[in-house]
Amino acid sequence: MKLANLERLRIATLPTPLQYAGRLSEALGGPKIFIKRDDLTGLALGGNKLQIVEFLLARAKAIGATCVVTCGGTQSNHACQTAAAAARVGLKCVLVLASGVHNGLQGNLLLDNLFGADVKLIEAPATSPDELDRAMEEVSEHLRRQGEVPYIIPLGGSSRYGAAGYVLASLELINQTTELGIRPDYLYVAVGSGSTLAGLIVGAKAFSAPYRVKGVAVYRPPEEQKRAVWALAQDTAELLGLNVTVEPHDISIYGEFLGPGYGHLTPEAREAIRLVARTEGLILDPVYTGKAMAALIEHIRVGWIGPDETVIFLHTGGVPAVFAYAPELTD
Ligand SMILES: Cc1ncc(COP(=O)(O)O)c(C=O)c1O
Repeated sequence: MKLANLERLRIATLPTPLQYAGRLSEALGGPKIFIKRDDLTGLALGGNKLQIVEFLLARAKAIGATCVVTCGGTQSNHACQTAAAAARVGLKCVLVLASGVHNGLQGNLLLDNLFGADVKLIEAPATSPDELDRAMEEVSEHLRRQGEVPYIIPLGGSSRYGAAGYVLASLELINQTTELGIRPDYLYVAVGSGSTLAGLIVGAKAFSAPYRVKGVAVYRPPEEQKRAVWALAQDTAELLGLNVTVEPHDISIYGEFLGPGYGHLTPEAREAIRLVARTEGLILDPVYTGKAMAALIEHIRVGWIGPDETVIFLHTGGVPAVFAYAPELTD
């Protein structure tokens, strides 16, 4: 398998723990909920993107890049973790960020500054990848003229090298379920650019996971999201030389928790964040994990997930954004 040979920089603290959330399970009336703590990957207050960025920065180093350029919204966890990882391996980092409502020097934007990233704020919606791509190209052209060798990382690190990170992370997770002696029925995860879900679907198929992966759309409508994830999953399996065929029915994404759109806190996500904080002492975020947890809570309440079943919730991080959303989260 080519997976073991794929170049990777060791930056994240792995394996992350898989923990039983007993008080949350009890509060919701039954199903056993385990939380996979990818919010504890180490740098920049943790998060899923470090697992992805390890492979992308290895590519950057391999082509002799002197600097990485990536993009997102002002509260992008991906951008922030890229900035931290770039600092760690000695690469310059330029972030092209779509200015939105949460653009005070708080949360991820504050951390970007501490990590020494060169932040370029542009007037564009964070949900407009084409405009962000164009802006990254312009910035890179400018850098080339200054003698730099830029490496562009797409929105959310969503490429087959990035998704490969979550194929490997699946192996780590499946081994942990075996060690704990559990057979989870479902794995819940927030879906933004789709690289995490694509990697998880390929990993679940390649390593015969007991669980079904359930994505919760937080960035774009589910049909659009499904098409993107399907293409990326197939591409990733091919890159890794895995004997895995991903079919459209392998991809399950719920769209009804997106609310008014990317980055808008919903009442359900707010409730989910507060419930998890008050039962487990854990911090979820308003943009990604809060909405994914809102979906899990709703599916338990309506009985789609029974009291005898077992669920893993992938905590993908996002903690810094809580500080940028303080007025909306508190009483
Ligand atoms: C906290 C958090 N959770 C989930 C995701 C979704 O990951 P992906 O973009 O790979 O779908 C992101 C993306 O930035 C994130 O920051």
